[in-house]
Amino acid sequence: MSDDGTKLFLGKLYKLMTVTTTIPVLGTIAELRSLVKTLNKNAKLIGVVPTMGALHAGHLSLVSESQRHTDATIVTIFVNPSQFSPTEDLAKYPQDLRADLEKLAGAGDIFVFAPSAAEMYPAGFSTTITPPNVGKLLEGEFRPTHFAGVATVVLKLLNLTRADFAFFGQKDFQQRLVVQKMVEDLNVPTEIRVCPIVREADGLAMSSRNIYLSAEEREIALSLYRTLEFVEAEIRDGQRDGYQLVVEMRQRLIDGGVTRIDYAAIADPHSLETVETIQLPVVVLLAAYVGKTRLIDNRLIALTD
Ligand code: PAF
Repeated sequence: MSDDGTKLFLGKLYKLMTVTTTIPVLGTIAELRSLVKTLNKNAKLIGVVPTMGALHAGHLSLVSESQRHTDATIVTIFVNPSQFSPTEDLAKYPQDLRADLEKLAGAGDIFVFAPSAAEMYPAGFSTTITPPNVGKLLEGEFRPTHFAGVATVVLKLLNLTRADFAFFGQKDFQQRLVVQKMVEDLNVPTEIRVCPIVREADGLAMSSRNIYLSAEEREIALSLYRTLEFVEAEIRDGQRDGYQLVVEMRQRLIDGGVTRIDYAAIADPHSLETVETIQLPVVVLLAAYVGKTRLIDNRLIALTD
């Protein structure tokens, strides 16, 4: 933060966490509101990067993008209980704030908002956003309460940060569509920006859940990426039969060792309705279990010049 007034403000208001970084960590809504007020007063453009922590290079690419386009980036780190069903991995979801802060170290003009669940959902909290229709398909069929939890927490975070821009990864393709439509429908004055999927060198999409994978499962997980590669090659080669391709995708995933497929779909990238006769652009979306770990991945296939 180059602005002296803001520096002074931070010095006064924020107790910096005594980890190896000097990133201001805000735990309460009151602290966040004070920061936002000061940033607004100083006409700073605000970017928000909503995360559940366990930061990896995918998250860091969102942070970099925010830093390129805004004056101050607020990274939110909150494992949002309302987007997990009782049978999902909330209890074991990786949480290590210190490690996350170390990954952000060195990045300038960054603030971390890491509230408790009680801060975000105090006793008596009872409002939930009904997600837009695009949230009912695919993930919505297999995780029927998920997007209500996502939409509710994201709207709270956008309201709290009053961000000019919010940065989401393409990896959660449907989540981004849900957030985008919610923002449009509810006239939220935040522009949603999407950043490309970040992959490991061998193609595995980065995910906080990859740490659950054993070495053997890590290899099996690659079948998602390989299946997307196969589908794109087939489509570029002229295959137009969406039904046939889905059959082949499922077979490849099974042959690759996945234990369960929630969905393998070729869809319209705006509505997510299944496409039977392929006309570009389409999005190919996968959700499958490798052992007990549920992974998602996707590939947007657009017309090339
Ligand atoms: O993508 C995520 O990590 C979460 O769904 C989000 C957007 C931070 C909401 O909890």
